[in-house]
Amino acid sequence: DVYKRQHPATAANVATLNERGAVLVGPEEGHLASGLVAVGRMSEPARLLGEVRLLLSRQNGPLAGRKIVVTAGGTREAIDPVRYLTNRSSGKQGYALAQAALDAGAEVTLVSSAVGVAPPTGATVIAVDSAQEMADAVLAAVRDADVLLMAAAVADFRPAQVSQQKIKKEGGAPVIELTPNPDILQLVWKQREAEGSPQVVVGFAAETQDLLANAGGKLTRKGLDLIVANNVSQADAGFAVDTNRVTLLRADAEPEILPLMGKNAVAEEIVGRVELLLA
Ligand code: PMT
Repeated sequence: DVYKRQHPATAANVATLNERGAVLVGPEEGHLASGLVAVGRMSEPARLLGEVRLLLSRQNGPLAGRKIVVTAGGTREAIDPVRYLTNRSSGKQGYALAQAALDAGAEVTLVSSAVGVAPPTGATVIAVDSAQEMADAVLAAVRDADVLLMAAAVADFRPAQVSQQKIKKEGGAPVIELTPNPDILQLVWKQREAEGSPQVVVGFAAETQDLLANAGGKLTRKGLDLIVANNVSQADAGFAVDTNRVTLLRADAEPEILPLMGKNAVAEEIVGRVELLLA
């Protein structure tokens, strides 16, 4: 529609390209070289690459036609209107999973509490803040999904009372009582038993000790098909960095210990296992 407002020659050329099946990206609105602010800017290279990637994967990816919900980021639990409790999750691992699922041809919904990370082109992003908001969004999104990849670092507790006003220091150091948040994966398990979807659920376990025992416990307690055991005690793996070191655990198979890898490569490994689980 942008082109309808353009010079007739441009509009005609665009119509010809459309007829030939070309996919058009942009132009974007913004500052032009002429100094005007208008439609005419080239789309950013990251967007162009994202669109090309999406187009290639849509054609014959192994997960074409599948719907995948991915969660990413650390939830934020309000203390008062200006303060919250959170954790060190950047969202990088979850966003890498979303990209890997898109690359495999899946339709991706990214339920995200991450800030400052660019979502991959083609993902439908649902922005959330708290664990409760994430729970609501995930339970709704997985109703018609094939897979849930739960990479978010969800706060186990939130302040029992949220102060409606900014807490003043003159009142002295406050005592903040905490109350448990819902366990999203356990809620998904219950819904899945009643409704049948999603077919495959993958959880993560961020651990600083007894990695396999703790992750194995979560695999069972949360009704998962696969858990990604993430040793977050080393500086080059886990929260915020670009690399990760994980072990993939299933109830009916030997643990698969993966070496230190980029988060994109870890994501591709996980999406590869998901393809096998769906098959
Ligand atoms: O975001 P990055 O900076 O890239 O870091 C990636 C990561 C370290 C956050 C990621 O790889 C990871 O390990 N994510 C899981 C973190 C976590 O919260 O682990 P957990 O062991 O506390 O929880 C186990 C599983 O239960 C997780 O899938 C979690 O999403 C889920 N959970 C946790 C609490 C809760 N109330 N509801 C849940 O569903």
